[in-house]
This record gives sequence, C-alpha cells and structure tokens, in this order.
Amino acid sequence: MKIITGITELRDHLRDKPRFAFVPTMGNLHQGHLSLIDQAKQRCDDVVVSIFVNRLQFLPHEDFDRYPRTLEEDCRLLSAANVKTVFAPNEKILFPTKQEFLLALPPVADILEGKFRPGFFRGVATIVLKLFNIIQPDLAVFGKKDYQQLHIVREMVQQLNIPIEIVAGETVRAEDGLALSSRNQYLSATQRLQACQLYQTLLQIKQEVIAGHKDFHALETSAINHLVQHGWNVDYISIHNRGSLMPAHEQDRDLVVLGAAWLNSTRLIDNLEI
Ligand code: PAJ
Repeated sequence: MKIITGITELRDHLRDKPRFAFVPTMGNLHQGHLSLIDQAKQRCDDVVVSIFVNRLQFLPHEDFDRYPRTLEEDCRLLSAANVKTVFAPNEKILFPTKQEFLLALPPVADILEGKFRPGFFRGVATIVLKLFNIIQPDLAVFGKKDYQQLHIVREMVQQLNIPIEIVAGETVRAEDGLALSSRNQYLSATQRLQACQLYQTLLQIKQEVIAGHKDFHALETSAINHLVQHGWNVDYISIHNRGSLMPAHEQDRDLVVLGAAWLNSTRLIDNLEI
C-alpha cells in the first residue's frame, strides 16, 4: 500500500491506472468507512482513500482540534482491506494559501445540518471538489449516514458537470442500532447505552408513517418531546422528500426522516429512508 502526501506524487502514481474509485474520509476509520471501500472494490479494482480532517467544515467552536486522528491504525485497516493507495495530505498541501475560492451552495445546504452548522456544506463541497480535481476518479462512494452531504455532492456533480459517478453506501450500525461514527467515542459508557434512542426514535417515526400516519409535524413534535424527556437536546427531527430533500408534503411517496441531537456535549446525527 502506498501512502502519499503530495499532489504531484499522487498524480504520477495514478496516471497509468485505467479506472479507479475514490472514498474520501476524515480518518479514524470504522466498519462504516470499510463498507464504502467494499462498495468501491466491487466496482473498480483500484481504490484510493483520502484521509484529511478538513478545517473548512468545522465552525470555530466545534471539535476540529479534538477530532480523533489515528493515521497509523487507519493505515493498518486500509492495508488489511487491500487498499492500494492512501492520500493523506497535510493542511499546507491542500491549503498552501488561504482557501478564498469557496463554492456558493443552493438553499438545500441551509436546512437541517446547514441550519445548525452554517457554512458546513460549503466547507464540505469545497474540499470534495478539490479532492475530485486532484484525484480525478471514475467513481466516488459516500455514505447515506450523512444523507444531506450525499445529496449535495450528487447535485454538485450534476450541476457542475463533473464526470464522476457517485455511489451511495448504506449506513453501518452497531448491534443496538446506533450508526457507527467517529464521534461515538466521545460518549461515556452510560451515554453510549442511551445513544441508540436516536435510531429508535427515527424507527418509530418510520413505522408510524408506513402505518399511514400523515401528520408529519405531529410525529416530529412527539419524537422531539420523547428525546427531550430522555435528556437529549434536539436540533431537529424532520421528515423530508428523498428526491429534493425539502420538507415532505403529505402526498410525497419517497421519504427520509433525519435527526440530529446532543447527548451532553456530543452531537449525533442519523436518518432512515421510509
Ligand atoms: P467522514 O465522517 O470520515 O466520513 C467519510 C464517509 O464515510 C462519508 O461518506 C460518510 O457518510 C461515511 N460514513 C460515516 N459513517 C458511516 C456509517 N456508519 N455507515 C456508512 N458510511 C458511513 O464525511 C466526511 O468524513 C467528510 O465530510 C468528507 C466527505 C471526507 C469531506 O471532508
């Protein structure tokens, strides 16, 4: 496995590869990331994984400094997964000067996560576009765990005519339903036991919608109240149209319920397609 930090070296290394897939990550890899790599391997022989904690997508008060950085262990996992190329640049390489060109995003970037983390998707889209330009893969895999991110990347690729196929990977969960996330390790043992309540609440909404409940607002409100009673601080629990990602109307068919909530100082997000 080659671990490459420089852009020129990476481009030289990739030049002769006929077709390859790309999985962008911020490292601290878990089974969720590895499942995306599996998806990539099913479609291409060669897979490039990037590891870069992108400052542009953190607000000043967020966890950029304490975000877990575990490059050595990540490389061990990637090597065991038979990944041939890891791109692990430092900030000087991706931002040799201040990143002043930033993408302007459509209104869908200002709802849900974007409402609570202003500028987040602009930071994500900008780094993803940079990585796409550097790596120029045939295909890239993103997880449904970050549903809105996946949606925005798909829209960006379409509207900016980027010749990369975007593939979605299902969310990998722990046995109790908690979606795997690098941020789960911020949870104390008691909080970890409680954390699956977010998934259970989304599942409850999904079941009620399938059973024919049409008053989405009432479902959202009762779910939020339920979590608050159990000690959560809820940013949103919201039912959306899967195609547009805008708030769902009663007659919409393909839905997704998304949620973000805090257990003490740890923020968790999750979603379920309905
Ligand atoms: P990161 O949080 O490291 O996630 C990398 C990829 O793994 C994303 O596509 C994410 O949706 C996916 N992922 C995370 N947890 C998952 C799970 N439990 N099951 C399946 N897939 C999962 O998302 C980012 O990094 C960054 O925003 C990035 C795209 C790299 C840009 O900086």
